[in-house]
Amino acid sequence: MIEINTIKEMKQWVLSRKKEGQTVGFVPTMGFLHEGHLSLVKKAKSESDVVIMSVFVNPLQFGEGEDFEEYPRNKHRDEDLAKDHGVDVLFYPDAKEMYPGPMSVSMKVHHGVDVLCGASRPGHFDGVATVVMKLFQITDPDKAFFGMKDAQQVAVIQNMVRDFHLDVDVVPVDIVREEDGLAKSSRNVNLSESERKEAHHLSKTLNQAKVEVVEGRISTSKALEAWTRKELAQRITGKLDYVQVLRFPDLMELTDLQGKIILAVAVFYDRARIIDNITWEIG
Ligand code: PAJ
Repeated sequence: MIEINTIKEMKQWVLSRKKEGQTVGFVPTMGFLHEGHLSLVKKAKSESDVVIMSVFVNPLQFGEGEDFEEYPRNKHRDEDLAKDHGVDVLFYPDAKEMYPGPMSVSMKVHHGVDVLCGASRPGHFDGVATVVMKLFQITDPDKAFFGMKDAQQVAVIQNMVRDFHLDVDVVPVDIVREEDGLAKSSRNVNLSESERKEAHHLSKTLNQAKVEVVEGRISTSKALEAWTRKELAQRITGKLDYVQVLRFPDLMELTDLQGKIILAVAVFYDRARIIDNITWEIG
């Protein structure tokens, strides 16, 4: 594995691979790697000749008062993990080169951001779309791999690719979980011991909610949201940010539970906000 720190070098490397006829897989991350990120690398390796992983904690997608400073970082560990898992290039750009000054043009996401994380984190997906657009320009990937843990992010990036006629195939990858079901996340280290202990109720409740629907006890989105909210309130001490049921991937509201749906939750704990979701096809 090699590490590249400048945009110019990164572009040159990609150009050389493409001249050789190789396909490029791209895994954008903010580092502090865990098995969720590494499952994206595994998928990328199986579908591309070479794999680039970027590690960049993007200031633009953190709102005021959010955890940009507290976001966990560990460069050496990330380098070791990326290398061990067969990443070809670790792209580790400098914030000063990525954002040399205020941007005169940036991405503004219009659709699918008044719900879920977009509603509670205004501007977040503008920051995500802007940095991913930049990273796509720099790495020019054939395929880019995104985790369904951030299902709304997958939808936003797919919409951006369509709207801007980008030649990149966005590949969604299943959520990787801890043994007790908690979705793996870099932010899990910021949970206290007791918060960590109870956090498995998020995924357990989502799974049970699906059973309620499959077995016919719940048939509307409002009832599904209410059931999930009540169950979570009884089992966790964290503060519920949202519980929402939407159509997926267009993130439109629905009344009757039909077609592909997402049930998503977000919970505030003391030093971390934890998200999880389940998607499935009905009928
Ligand atoms: P980050 O939170 O580091 O996540 C990088 C990628 O790993 C995302 O596509 C995310 O969905 C995926 N991922 C995280 N946890 C996962 C899990 N438990 N199972 C499967 N995939 C998981 O998402 C971002 O960074 C940023 O917004 C980024 C796209 C890099 C733009 O800055």
